Amino acid sequence: MKKKLIYLLILMLASACSWENEETFYPEAENCDTLDVSYAMDIVPVLSNHCYSCHSNANAPDFGSGNAFEDHADVSASSSLIVKVINHMEGIPAMPKNSDKLDDCTISIIEAWVNDGSPEN
Ligand code: HEC
Repeated sequence: MKKKLIYLLILMLASACSWENEETFYPEAENCDTLDVSYAMDIVPVLSNHCYSCHSNANAPDFGSGNAFEDHADVSASSSLIVKVINHMEGIPAMPKNSDKLDDCTISIIEAWVNDGSPEN
C-alpha cells in the first residue's frame, strides 16, 4: 500500500515537471501581450519594419499598388483587409508580399488593435 502512494507521488512530481517545461518551451504564446495595444508604440513599428518598403506614402504608387498605410486614417480604413492579408487568407494577396508570414504574436497584437476599433492611440 505504501509503495503505491510513493508511485503516485513520483507520478505527480513528474507531471509537475513536464508542465513547467511546456511553459519554457513556448514562451512566446505565454508572453504575448495583447492588452492596451497602442497604434504609435505597437502597430506603426510593425508596419514600418514589414510594410512601408511598399506601402509608405512615397512607395505605395510604385511598389504597393497604390495602397498606402502610413497615415492612421488609411490604416484604419483598411484594417479588416489588413487582418485578412496578414493571416494569408485564401483568395487575396498574402502580406508581407514575398516575405515570411508575421509571427503569431504580432498578428494577435494587430488583431487586438483592430478589434478595439483601430484607435489612434
Ligand atoms: C514587397 C512589397 C510589399 C510589402 C513588403 C507589403 N506589401 Fe502589401 N501589397 C503589395 C502589392 C504589390 C499589393 C497589390 C496586390 C499584389 O500585387 O499582390 C499589395 C496589396 C496589399 C493590400 C491590399 C490587398 C487587396 O486585396 O486589395 C493590403 C491590405 C496590404 N498589401 C497590406 C500589407 C501589409 C499589412 C504589409 C506588411 C505586413 C504589406 N502589405 C507588405 C506589396 C507589398
